[in-house]
Amino acid sequence: GKGKWKEFDSRDLLISYNALKVLEARYLLKDPNTLRYIETPQMMFRRVARHIANVEKLYGKDEKQVKEIEDKLYEMMSNLKFIPNTPALMNSGTRLGILSACFVIPVRDAMSTPNGDGIYDALRAMALVHQQGGGTGFDFSELRPKGDIVASTAGVASGPVSFMRIFDVSTDVVKQGGKRRGANMGVMHAWHADVQDFIRAKTGELRDTHLQNFNISVGVYDYFMNAVERGEAVPLINPRKTRIPGKDWDYYMTNARGYMHDESVQEYILKELEEKGGSVYLDESRIITVDEALVIAEKENAIVQWVNARQLFDEIVKGAWDSGDPGLLFIDEINRRHPVWYIGKINATNPCGEEPLLPWESCNLGSISLEKFVVEKDGKMSIDWDGLVEAIKYGVRFLDNVIDANRYPLKQIEEATKKTRKVGLGVMGLARMLIKLGIPYDSVDALYISYQLAKFIYYHALKTSIDLAKEKGSFPAYDPYYYHDIWESARDFGSLLEVSNIKDKPSDYVKKLTEVVDRLDFSLLKEERIKFGLRNSTVVSVAPTGTISIIAGTSSSIEPLFALAFVRNVAVGKFIEIDPLFLEYLRKYELDDPEVVQKIAETGTVAENPFIPRTMKKLFRTAHEVPPEYHVLHQAMWQQWNDSGTSKTINLKSEEPPETVEKVYMLAWKLGIKGVTVYRDRSKSQQVIYFGIKK
Ligand code: CDP
Repeated sequence: GKGKWKEFDSRDLLISYNALKVLEARYLLKDPNTLRYIETPQMMFRRVARHIANVEKLYGKDEKQVKEIEDKLYEMMSNLKFIPNTPALMNSGTRLGILSACFVIPVRDAMSTPNGDGIYDALRAMALVHQQGGGTGFDFSELRPKGDIVASTAGVASGPVSFMRIFDVSTDVVKQGGKRRGANMGVMHAWHADVQDFIRAKTGELRDTHLQNFNISVGVYDYFMNAVERGEAVPLINPRKTRIPGKDWDYYMTNARGYMHDESVQEYILKELEEKGGSVYLDESRIITVDEALVIAEKENAIVQWVNARQLFDEIVKGAWDSGDPGLLFIDEINRRHPVWYIGKINATNPCGEEPLLPWESCNLGSISLEKFVVEKDGKMSIDWDGLVEAIKYGVRFLDNVIDANRYPLKQIEEATKKTRKVGLGVMGLARMLIKLGIPYDSVDALYISYQLAKFIYYHALKTSIDLAKEKGSFPAYDPYYYHDIWESARDFGSLLEVSNIKDKPSDYVKKLTEVVDRLDFSLLKEERIKFGLRNSTVVSVAPTGTISIIAGTSSSIEPLFALAFVRNVAVGKFIEIDPLFLEYLRKYELDDPEVVQKIAETGTVAENPFIPRTMKKLFRTAHEVPPEYHVLHQAMWQQWNDSGTSKTINLKSEEPPETVEKVYMLAWKLGIKGVTVYRDRSKSQQVIYFGIKK
């Protein structure tokens, strides 16, 4: 009878069959001797909550206060409203100590260095991070190009692309925590002499065989994108030759803001920047233009070749169209909107791009399931803003505690991470939230909801971080004056739409639904920040939520539904999934007839299905049916109110031409996105998700 169920924790009933399978395969702890499970999902959430709440003891909280926080964290996870990134779930309270998902490791042009940042030092660091479930990003641009001289052996250099292969093989060998394979981001900046090899490293004949554990991205600058538009030539540089002690070509080619380590020149440079509008570069204590930098490089004999930027860009586009790689990282945008720009320049991101990080920094993530905050009010669907605030508050506290609960594999990582205390609160379940609200993903209303939600979440995450600073102190690198309030440069909704020539306006319905957001006052927050400090140099981030969205039983990240029915191929087996919300709709329209369902499952979509009503077709448009510009625009909306990065895959139909990729990459740059990745259906032999259950 019903009463009997009360004896079980009803929370476990929230967990879907697929979620349970994933948890069972990778997350739930087993006895190492008997291999029997020693915990249930609820016990797992309890283990994590306890481990993370325990950190509060370091800040003088008593048992009772710690228990209260533990209960809050547990509630949030067990209700599937907030889930931290995989390493935190797997490793909390176990022998393994890494709880973060994102790392960036520097690679200097030497085999090994006393600072531990040579090529093979980086390789070792990577293995240690992968072993415990973290993902790593590298900028390989400092390495001398292929064929260059090696003084110590009078030999010839192999070049960065060859070295990347070692990182790739090592990743194969060290399976993350014994449970999943490591992920990497390899970056090369567009000025590097080997950039053409880099662009082709995963395409054509090398597709599906080369660098399979890497996402690769070309680091591009505004000067480069401008040159693409104008069809101008850009120089390719040998970084070894530009190395005035301690500096390299990159030093010139970046917005000066990234290089202002010396406090005595900061004031002066800030003034100059204001006058010259930002597109200027720093040489020692003086600002120089790109043209001046070129003169220096020429004098140094560092320019290997001039190439047409347009041609280089076309190759990038062709590669991405062919295989999904390379993506782009917009280095200027990343550094312009980096809140702690004054401590260094960012050259790389973690594997999926949501965390642009300084060398050795790490970041931990956690995501709120948006669909849990859709509530019925007076017979209408609406958003539970108060509930959202609560989840944001405890989400940020959770992530901040992770920084202290982490056991870091290397002291450089610990130092860099604790200096800036970056955390990334993100979201999942946007697509399902929109469906529950009755709004198609590819509509201006949906974009507006994205924009407003991002703003709301960023506001409250920032506010929480200020409150945490009152309680526990600011991050050590915090400087109330130089800290950059990125909300000041957030573009307004209308201007973003203008960039992409969309004329529609958001409806009164969504304006009313989100009017609470319009009342937020960021300038008050700034006053508080200056007065009380800030606990974390970044607070939000939009992660892909590949696995945790399965655990939470929701759609991933800010992506549209991938398919209404599909087979998911993951390390532990094949899953057939039919979207439950979709099934609900089928029932509503009395279409849950086995024959109709079978038909839908064969293709994954309802676009061509004559039985499905029009409104339903619109609402359930899947990732490949959503026009590319709506993908990019959603990413732009979330990026505006985000102090780190927004991970997004611009999914394209198999038959889209290369021109579509080109348009997407250009639009991404113009919309101020920090990084962009496309994936054309079926462009890889092994893809995680296939449409339909027949394939
Ligand atoms: O859902 P989950 O927490 O497992 O991860 P995600 O949100 O899909 O990915 C977040 C980050 O985890 C990625 O950007 C990588 O830094 C890292 N990751 C990894 O190292 N290896 C994987 N196989 C997947 C993710």
